[in-house]
Amino acid sequence: MRRALIFVAIALLGGAGVLAGPRVVAAARAGTPRARRAWVTAYRLTHPNAEPQNWLSTGHDYSDTWFSPLKAIDDRNVGGLGLAWHDDLDTHRGQEATPVVVDGVMYTTSAWSKVQAFNAVTGRRLWQFDPKVPGRIAIYACCDVVNRGVAVWMGRLYLATLDGRLIALDARTGRPVWSVLTVDPRRPYTVTGAPLAVAGRIIIGNAGAEYGVRGYVSAYDAATGKLLWRFYTVPGDPAKGFESAVLARAAKTWPPGWWRSGGGATVWNTFSYDPDLGLLYFGTGNIQPWGRMPSGAPADGLLSASIVAVHVATGQYAWHFQTTPGDRWDYDSTQTLTLATLTIDGRPRKVIMQAAKNGYFYVLDRATGRLLAARNFVPVNWSRGIDPQTGRPEVKPEAFYDVTGQVWVGTPGAAGGHNWQPMSFSPVTGLVYIPAQEVSFPYLLDRAFEPQALATNMGIDQAATSLPPDPKIRAQALAGLKGYLSAWDPVAEREVWRAPLAGPWNGGVLSTAGNLVFEGNAAGSFVAYRASDGKRLWSFAAETGIIAAPMTFAVAGKQYVTVLAGWGGIFPLAAGELSFKSGRQVNRSRVLTFALGGTDRLPAAPPEPTSVVPPPAVRVDPALAAQGAQEYARRCGSCHGDGAVSGGLVPDLRYSAALRSEEFWNAVVDGGAFESEGMVSFKSVLSAAQQAAVRAYLIERAQQSYAASAH
Ligand code: HEC
Repeated sequence: MRRALIFVAIALLGGAGVLAGPRVVAAARAGTPRARRAWVTAYRLTHPNAEPQNWLSTGHDYSDTWFSPLKAIDDRNVGGLGLAWHDDLDTHRGQEATPVVVDGVMYTTSAWSKVQAFNAVTGRRLWQFDPKVPGRIAIYACCDVVNRGVAVWMGRLYLATLDGRLIALDARTGRPVWSVLTVDPRRPYTVTGAPLAVAGRIIIGNAGAEYGVRGYVSAYDAATGKLLWRFYTVPGDPAKGFESAVLARAAKTWPPGWWRSGGGATVWNTFSYDPDLGLLYFGTGNIQPWGRMPSGAPADGLLSASIVAVHVATGQYAWHFQTTPGDRWDYDSTQTLTLATLTIDGRPRKVIMQAAKNGYFYVLDRATGRLLAARNFVPVNWSRGIDPQTGRPEVKPEAFYDVTGQVWVGTPGAAGGHNWQPMSFSPVTGLVYIPAQEVSFPYLLDRAFEPQALATNMGIDQAATSLPPDPKIRAQALAGLKGYLSAWDPVAEREVWRAPLAGPWNGGVLSTAGNLVFEGNAAGSFVAYRASDGKRLWSFAAETGIIAAPMTFAVAGKQYVTVLAGWGGIFPLAAGELSFKSGRQVNRSRVLTFALGGTDRLPAAPPEPTSVVPPPAVRVDPALAAQGAQEYARRCGSCHGDGAVSGGLVPDLRYSAALRSEEFWNAVVDGGAFESEGMVSFKSVLSAAQQAAVRAYLIERAQQSYAASAH
């Protein structure tokens, strides 16, 4: 009866927790009335360790630690871990989400922005929601049609879809309650990051800085979907006036007319939040297009490639710290922003930490944004170090490839020393566990660059820097690729241990109070390490590469570990042959849940087809193929792979029937027959002659590959 009354009160209040009556608040504080599914309140979100059995937001907590105090599974018994249940997902693209678990129910997103709810113990599906994202949006998703998870608030889930909608779902039924469009559909925006729920607000960012957009963060009312505030990260058209004082100041750091391209600086990944300071933290992406800024200050392009703090209540600017001024290397500063209290020089300091794409590990005072430490956690060749006073990198002259006009091989490259894959901080060991990598990238300015529709608009010459057929150069490029799990001491500023991996593009990380670190990898294993020294303790063959970060939860005192398996993301889409460094991977998208004594098994993976398709025996005009190579690099390589070598997520065009059948080619490339699967029609941008040139290039590549392979 009392419970019923509470629900009436809640219904009358429209679920606005901050306004709820005293009895509801008291009940929520005690954390008791869980009869309503996913009843996640402000109290619960700010006291995650009061209920270690749950995992209430993608990063576990507002500090984005990806750490759980659970320790029933520990470094002594982890060898007994087995698969408890698995679920085959119905999308065969990269899976990047970390699920949440609230009171025994698991919610996770998958590729194409779908949402699934499971009984977390049995894996029984409760419902699935498909927002029916139009396939044509994929052309503007630089890095796969991925999604990184949901936010939960007061009985509802919040989903950000690839095409920019924010949808509130009833957690019990999976039915939409409201839906709002958060982007201008005429611009090439996408959304892949998980939203964050903060005291009745849903915070959401967006992506698209490879194509031409202006970055911003928005806050919506969780109850109604009304826009509460919007914070732009790039100043807009000066003629229209600036939205804030900080943007007026930022405008002085951009060259004239920057705003026509949008500027980039998108907030495409994760958020963290300090309830005591009321500050919301996010990182901003690269400047778009690349290599168009005058070199040196004041052309910093604020607030791109920065860590930014705003007041969550109003969206007003608090501070920023720019990791890469005047970015021209795609050094987004959007990696995990982890909050912790560290003892530095004998004093406890409230810090924010980031292992940035540019290769430096930053520790900042999170109240002021002041730099406390910055040291490289991977090799860097673009700069000599960070000035401890100003925080500015000392950039080497040769790194300004736009000034020299030469190819410059940057380390880290555009894939970063660390990308979106979440790192984890364990307050027990005091270490940060970073999915680190060494992936160089050849930068060469495209002098003739003009932004175009249905193309990546980075402004670099990707055809000229495509990996050449020369086997020696290919072997060298492959040898240079590295990936490792790095345990970093953020106070001593040094690596404590390292677990070397077969190659780069490995999974996000979970650490636990059981002295364990879990990470899936590009070689298709899910591995547990001892958190204190990195000893490899257990592994599971997942039959596919893993890029998502795991999470852990408990039901009725029993601990489980879950990870989404499913190879994908930018690396297998665009890196061509380099994406095979850890072995060829096929996407087999699944939710995998483990427990001590688990006895579930995966069905045996079907054998790989071994026959090599012979290429069409036609004579290719080399001039036509060279012209096609340009178009391919500009419009096709971001999905079908560098040098027409596919990393396995989308068809390898060297072996496509479309090279033998002009009719099939025309139906797909001109007619858009596969649009719903993410392959648009290029009719509006490629003439019949240009399409024929691309096809000639692909036939040439097929003939080269066939001649080089032992068949
Ligand atoms: C945004 C990613 C993306 C881009 C960019 C892209 N494609 Fe595709 N393409 C796909 C996907 C995904 C498929 C597979 C669709 C399906 O599931 O059948 C595909 C399929 C194809 C096929 C059919 C292959 C087969 O054997 O089934 C051809 C041919 C093709 N693409 C050519 C091109 C050309 C030429 C370009 C550049 C002008 C291009 N694609 C650019 C994603 C892309």
